[in-house]
Amino acid sequence: MKDKDKEAGNEGGGPRITSPVPTPEEVNEASLRPRDFGEFVGQEDLKAKLGVFVTAAKQRGEALDHVLFCGPPGLGKTTLAHIIANELGVGLKQTSGPAVEKKGDLAGLLTNLADRDVLFIDEIHRLSPAIEENLYPAMEDFTFDVMIGEGPHARSIKLKLKRFTLVGATTRTGLLTSPMRDRFGIVERLDHYPKTDLAGIVRRSAVILGVEVSDAAAAEIGGRARGTPRVANRLLRRVRDFAQVEGDGRVDLDAARSALDRLDVDECGLDAADRRYLSCIALKFGGGPVGVETLSAALSEERDTLEEVYEPFLLQEGFIQRTPRGRVVTQRAAKHLGVSLGAKGDLL
Ligand SMILES: Nc1ncnc2c1ncn2[C@@H]1O[C@H](COP(=O)(O)OP(=O)(O)O)[C@@H](O)[C@H]1O
Ligand SMILES: [Mg+2]
Repeated sequence: MKDKDKEAGNEGGGPRITSPVPTPEEVNEASLRPRDFGEFVGQEDLKAKLGVFVTAAKQRGEALDHVLFCGPPGLGKTTLAHIIANELGVGLKQTSGPAVEKKGDLAGLLTNLADRDVLFIDEIHRLSPAIEENLYPAMEDFTFDVMIGEGPHARSIKLKLKRFTLVGATTRTGLLTSPMRDRFGIVERLDHYPKTDLAGIVRRSAVILGVEVSDAAAAEIGGRARGTPRVANRLLRRVRDFAQVEGDGRVDLDAARSALDRLDVDECGLDAADRRYLSCIALKFGGGPVGVETLSAALSEERDTLEEVYEPFLLQEGFIQRTPRGRVVTQRAAKHLGVSLGAKGDLL
């Protein structure tokens, strides 16, 4: 699989200012997207905290403080931005870091916000430094500096903006500049979901899609979903395809298992790309340590994709470790791949 397509590709849902026509994947995601905290499965602590902040802001009649969500793709950052706007009872405008190219783009977005609206900026770490500079006064004082006129007569005036809430999403906090990060009053990290929550997400989505899925099958699909709600929904749709074409449309445990095997998702939830990553370290680099740049070249994958999409789950599940000298695979990974780890080169 190429690039960020793995999980991040075509993500989003909701309009982007650059591409008003949603992709089929976006349409699918939008239909399964929880609309309020009640529908959002799992992440109980996070939901409780956000619930308090939203209620407090509403009680005071103020805009909610700016919120930053960090975490790997597919864990619910975009969904939470929409839920926050919905729970606050305000409008939401959505864009993404790379889409805001000119100062005028930003001015257009900001001046169109109504009082207490949410402005959602996906991939906020990809805003250009110049745009970021212009965002600071907007976030802090709700003002925006514009230049009027040219040459010696040019002067700067301050536009007064409505009080709004910026919700930013990023796959990695480390990529965000610290002045930007410091301007968020609420910073929350999303981690991969436990299997029981993913099973719950599969059951919920099955009801919405109108497909009969047994509890055991939902647990099987959730258990192989790489800790990621987006993957759980995607696997469910593919399993449904097999059940519809080759079975009677119902998804029981056997149907789920055989479909998942054919989709090349193993019992630990690793897909072909994950196994390729692990085998590369295990076989080409003797188990590691290997630097991320070397690995990126060996796999023909961007470094960012390795760090944002592949590694968080593999680290969390104990398949790899990060050391100062690079990545190493663990005994668990070796066992899973059916190889033995020796000295560098032993396995070549
Ligand atoms: N906690 C959750 N409960 C139910 N569905 C979820 C949850 N988190 C994410 N999803 C679903 O997973 C998909 C991806 O979520 P999204 O918010 O787009 O992730 P992100 O923005 O972090 O990449 C969406 O279809 C969304 O509805
Ligand atoms: Mg998103």
